[in-house]
Amino acid sequence: MKVVRSVAKMQELSRQTRSAGLTVGFVPTMGYLHDGHVSLVHLARESANVVVVSIFVNPTQFNAAEDFSNYPRDEKTDEALLEEEGVDILFMPDAADVYPPGAATRVAVSGLTDALCGAFRPGHFEGVTTVVAALLNMVQPDVAVFGRKDFQQIQVVRRMVRDLHFPVTIVEGTTSRERDGLARSSRNARLSPAQRAVAGAIYAALSAAAAAYGRGERTASALKEAARRRLEQTADFRIEYLEVVDPDAIAAVDAADERAVMAVAAWLGPVRLIDNVTLAEQALALSEGTSTAASGAATSESIHPGV
Ligand code: PAF
Repeated sequence: MKVVRSVAKMQELSRQTRSAGLTVGFVPTMGYLHDGHVSLVHLARESANVVVVSIFVNPTQFNAAEDFSNYPRDEKTDEALLEEEGVDILFMPDAADVYPPGAATRVAVSGLTDALCGAFRPGHFEGVTTVVAALLNMVQPDVAVFGRKDFQQIQVVRRMVRDLHFPVTIVEGTTSRERDGLARSSRNARLSPAQRAVAGAIYAALSAAAAAYGRGERTASALKEAARRRLEQTADFRIEYLEVVDPDAIAAVDAADERAVMAVAAWLGPVRLIDNVTLAEQALALSEGTSTAASGAATSESIHPGV
């Protein structure tokens, strides 16, 4: 695996790969990798010849300096993991190269960023789209892979790619979950053992709403109530939002159709957790017994030592 820090070198490697008739698959990350990232790497491997993973903790997408500095980092373990996974290039640009002195350009997608995370994290998506646009220009991939856990993010990136004609195909990876259903996230490492033990309730809440959908409930307020009741069984959560949205508009709906997504953000102590399901798909998975067991035990297994 080549470890590349220079933007010019990354662009050169990408150009060489493509002029040799090979395709580039790209997984952008902020590091502290977990099995969810590994599944995105596998998807990139299935979609392209050469796999590039970037690690860059992007300062412009954090709302609080404290969250940025507390974001977990472990370059050595990440590098070893990616090497083991057969990644071809690990791209770790410096902040001063991503944002050259005097950088004054921002990329913003309007509308899709108004609700959900966009409503509670002002400037967050502008930071994401600006850095993703920059990374796409640095890596110049044919395919870029994003995880479904960040549902609004992938929709916003898709729209940016379409509107600005980036020559890249966006591929969506399914949400990778722990045994109790908790969506894998680098932030989970900051949960205490007691918080971790109850964190699966978020997925259980989404599943409770999906079960209600499966029984024929379509009213968004009733579906939200089913999820809220389940989540409030665990007193520790502070719900930031719980919404039923149209996946293309990312706007709240009053009645759920077969494409409707329920999305949630909730705080558990100092950690903000997000998750989402397509209600109809989750209802089907529950009825077929193929969903991750919402009642399964929590697991503390981690790629990173000491977590
Ligand atoms: O999803 C993430 O890890 C980040 O938002 C991304 C896409 C790497 C941009 O910094």
